[in-house]
This record gives sequence, C-alpha cells and structure tokens, in this order.
Amino acid sequence: MDVLIKNGLLVDTEWTRHSDIFISGSKISRIAPSIDPSELPASTTVVYADGLCVLPGIIDAHTHYHLVSRGTVTADSFEEGSRLAAYGGVTTVVDFADDRRPLLIDSFHDRRKEMAPMAIDYALHQGVYRYREGIRKELESIRRAGIGAIKIFTTYKDVGYLIDDRDELKSIFRDARDLGLMVCVHAEDDKIITEIAASWKGGYTPADHARLRPAEAEAAAIRYVGGIAGELDMPVYIVHLSSRAGLEAVRELRGHGVKVIAETTPHYLFLDSSLLDRPDGPLYVMTPPLRSRDDNKALQEALINGEIQVVATDHCSFTYEQKLESNDCRRIYPGIPGTEEMLPLLHTFGISSGALTLQQIVNLVSTGPAKCFGLYPEKGSLLEGTDADIVLFDPAASWTISRETTHSASGYTAYEGTEVTGKVLMTYLRGRLVMGDGIYLGMKGDGRFLRARKC
Ligand code: URP
Ligand code: ZN
Ligand code: ZN
Repeated sequence: MDVLIKNGLLVDTEWTRHSDIFISGSKISRIAPSIDPSELPASTTVVYADGLCVLPGIIDAHTHYHLVSRGTVTADSFEEGSRLAAYGGVTTVVDFADDRRPLLIDSFHDRRKEMAPMAIDYALHQGVYRYREGIRKELESIRRAGIGAIKIFTTYKDVGYLIDDRDELKSIFRDARDLGLMVCVHAEDDKIITEIAASWKGGYTPADHARLRPAEAEAAAIRYVGGIAGELDMPVYIVHLSSRAGLEAVRELRGHGVKVIAETTPHYLFLDSSLLDRPDGPLYVMTPPLRSRDDNKALQEALINGEIQVVATDHCSFTYEQKLESNDCRRIYPGIPGTEEMLPLLHTFGISSGALTLQQIVNLVSTGPAKCFGLYPEKGSLLEGTDADIVLFDPAASWTISRETTHSASGYTAYEGTEVTGKVLMTYLRGRLVMGDGIYLGMKGDGRFLRARKC
C-alpha cells in the first residue's frame, strides 16, 4: 500500500522542513513541499499530519529482549519487545548475541534464529567473552554474516565474561579494527569492584549495589579500553555511560585524540540512586547502578553539548514480581525496561531544558546509532529511496507514563507518574503501519535482520 503523509514537519538530523512525504511500498519515494494526491495511484492512503512531526524510525541500539540470565529469562521476549517498541516509535533494535558456543558464528546463528519472531527490524552485536586461537577467522565470519559490532565486558569475571589479559584484548581490538567491526564495551573495572567486595563491611541492600560498583570503576575501565583503542588508532564505543567520572575519562581520552563514542541511557540521565532507598528499590537495580543527581546533570549537559553520540536503553526487563523477589542486591535480577519511554522522555527534557532540539534528538536515537552500527542511510534518515521507517509524533501531547500507558510485559515502568510532552501516534516499518492510534498492528516474523555495513 502507498501512503502520502501531508502537511507534517519533517525532522531529519540534517534538516527540518514542512514537506509532504510519499511512501511507495517499503521505501520513501518522494519528499516535496506539496504533493498532489490526485497525481498518485488511486489506492494511496492520505494521512494528514498537520501539527505533527514526521521522524525517521527510532533505533534502540542497546536491548536485551529475551535474555536468558541467572536461571530465568527476561519478561519481554521478541513479540513483547517488538510491540512495546512500536508504541515508542522504535522500528529497529540492536540486540545482542551471547558468546555461548565454541564458535562465534554459531552463537550468532543461534541468536538470529531465536529472533525470527521479531515484528520490527533488528541488528546484532556479538558478545566476545574469551580470546581463542584463530579468533580473527571467527571475527571475519561473523562480519561476513552481517555483524557490525562486537561487545566486550571489563567485568563479570565470576560469570566468565571478562577477558583479563590485556594483550589478548588488544589483539581482539586489532582484529576488529582491521575488519571494520565496532568494539562496544561494558566498562566497569572488575578489579576495583572485586576489591571493594572483598573488604565490604556494609550490607547488600539495593542502595549498596551502587556503593559496591562505584563510578570510579567505570572511569578506570574507560581509561583502560580507551588506552588500547588509542594505541591502535581505532574508535571504541562505551555503552551505558552512567557517571560524571566516566564522562571525565571520556573527555580526557578525547583530549589525547582517542576516538571515543559515548552512549548513555534515559535512566542515567533522569533517574538517581535515591530510588534505591524506597521499599520498591529493587525495581531500579541495574548494572552499572543508578548514580547521583550530580551525575544526571553531568550527562544531561554532555548530551546538550554534543559529547554523547547515542542514547539507547539497555532494555532488560524482569517482571515486577521477579524484581521484588529479593532485597539482596546480589540476587536482584539486574535491568529495567525502557525502549518505549525513550523518545517522550528525551523530548520532554529537550523542551524543559530549552537546549535540545528535536533534530538533535533524532540524531541521538536514530541517525547516530544508524551511523555507528552500519545501518545508515537505510535506517536513521528521511532520504528518498531509503526504508520508510517513519514516526508520526505529536510534540504537544501531554500524558503520564505509567504501567497502564506502557506495554512492557514486566508490568511496571521505572518512570511511573512522570508527566511527558510528546507522543508517538503512528509507527511505520518499511511502509507498513505497525502501530496507529494506540493499536498494535505488528506482525510476528515481519522484522528483518539487518546486515551491517562497515561501522
Ligand atoms: O543490568 C543490566 N544492565 N543488565 C543488562 C546487561 C548489561 O550489562 O548491559
Ligand atoms: Zn552492560
Ligand atoms: Zn546491556
């Protein structure tokens, strides 16, 4: 079906203008100040978007849908994840394949098969948890299969995620550079965390989770991986930057010419560790932990100043009941939902701060991640000839985020009661409406795996 969206304000990263946009099949066919419906095929649906913004489909570049972890599985599997994403204007997610099998390519294929029920498009990062003989060939094969980025951890030694040896890690970085793979890092220094834990005299409440994994651990790990990237003259992508100290480390590295790409999440921007003191504190436990108001402010300023390239959510949802099973931070399932709330939260912050335009927001949640992960311009743009992933967004609509107005199977939102301005009214995936006027129309299995170009 062809669709003409008339009279909207189109917002791309490069420009904002009042234009009509004609979608033919799955592609954006034409953008012009005024397109006459009578010139188009008679079957064309005309959508009047007066007063609305027309955005490229949002990309959540950091999700864990259906994550099997700690003997359970997260609440939002691929169908639930696709559904809540469509409500949030998200048409693409970049999820993550664990390094589970002897060969990376097998881990990748397993995850790709698992993700077949997705109703929106998806790309994958491949986790790499250990160095092995012949790893370059393995990286070559996942690159050929469409992986654009690998993900490494500087912590979680206890569960086997940490590559401890610097030379081995550097060798993986070098191979990734040569093959055009982005290296993404969950940056927390395991040694600092282990030492604190070893001499810990405190308790294990949700608030203690933040004391056991301080911001200094993040900063140290960023300096460490930034040092390796600097020696190899390659970029490094820091996922879920959470603290002022981490940001200072990023600034320091950039000052030395290191190409650091920084991603943060809505929760590190807008939520702080005081939530962990509440009786329902476990709901707000994730890793890295929530920090102080001062850390929120530092990241907000960095966002405004253009020091952060991507906002993504680290959506990793457990049910309300699962989260509250234990008050012991060593047992609380870590992670929160967030994909659906991202755009309205950022838009509200943009308006209230008066310092972040919708064009900048589009860059942070669509164009930026598309460019980082080799998906641009097919994704992340409003260019003619590219995928018609389109969001109709009402910038004036006020509403309250709550468990009733959001769609995660977790049964809760970390932003309960937050009043926001800006609402997604319609989400098109490759020209097909997947959410319109509050009704989900996504189709199981309709999502496509996106092969990354060079990142
Ligand atoms: O607590 C979190 N963030 N869980 C998801 C896995 C990760 O480390 O990003
Ligand atoms: Zn992480
Ligand atoms: Zn994550």
